[in-house]
Amino acid sequence: MFEHNHQVYTAREIVQHYSQLRQLQPAEQSILDLLSNRWSHMKMLDVGIGGGRTTQYFSRVVKEYVGIDYSEEMVSVCQKRFPSSSQLRIEVGDARDMSQFPDNSFDFILFSFNGIDVISHSDRLRVLKEVSRVGKSGGYFFFSSHSLQGLEREFKWQNQISLNPLKTYVNMIMFALLRFFNRSISLQQIKHSEHEIIQDESHNFRLKQYYIRPQEQLNQLKAAFENIRMYSWKSGLEITTQQELSDNSDMWIYYLCKIK
Ligand SMILES: C[S@@+](CC[C@H](N)C(=O)[O-])C[C@H]1O[C@@H](n2cnc3c(N)ncnc32)[C@H](O)[C@@H]1O
Repeated sequence: MFEHNHQVYTAREIVQHYSQLRQLQPAEQSILDLLSNRWSHMKMLDVGIGGGRTTQYFSRVVKEYVGIDYSEEMVSVCQKRFPSSSQLRIEVGDARDMSQFPDNSFDFILFSFNGIDVISHSDRLRVLKEVSRVGKSGGYFFFSSHSLQGLEREFKWQNQISLNPLKTYVNMIMFALLRFFNRSISLQQIKHSEHEIIQDESHNFRLKQYYIRPQEQLNQLKAAFENIRMYSWKSGLEITTQQELSDNSDMWIYYLCKIK
């Protein structure tokens, strides 16, 4: 099932889609600003670079930039866009096995735009271990992941109604497709799970993605990471209180963690 996700990321139209993305997401901009006086000392690993959306911003400011992706097709597009230099390198690599890098190699590791969500639960845990191994102690891991809280909202038809009838119509169609592709999963199940695999609307329901309850994500991280901060992907603002977290219905959340 997860091999199919890999195939999706090798498809020509998908590679083209990612190579046309240009904007940083608000939470990514927040971190770019937050660490502005540190970048010039940092060696960065960008995992799952896709078409290089984040490369254009981060490679300019860091001391050294290495980008990897497990899709050869994504890598070759990126290599054309960003020719290698003494400061920048892009290569094929899989986050589940980064044995090409020694321990304690990087100051900042990014896995943006929910790239970590297209692999299985056990592979996700392997990725977290690999990140903590190749990252320096005191370095950062910044990534986003789909939120089960956000999905809970999408699973209720009542939330699809808007004052604009056209919007309601489109929402209802997307709602029906979401429920159809995930017909074995009930709203009750979503409410009570810690994580679920969901065939969601990205790339026309071609991907199966991991959704996790934010609190459970914190539990998953605590063995290898500390000082975990959460950011709304949409507003870019840090989620600082328990109330803000329980009210949050973003479809994905960014996590900034320090490697232990
Ligand atoms: C949603 S795209 C995001 C692309 C880019 N980072 C961006 O933000 O625009 C996820 C990317 O992660 C890559 N990816 C997924 N799992 C991976 C893994 N285990 N190792 C390396 N790359 C992976 C995919 O090939 C894809 O290019």
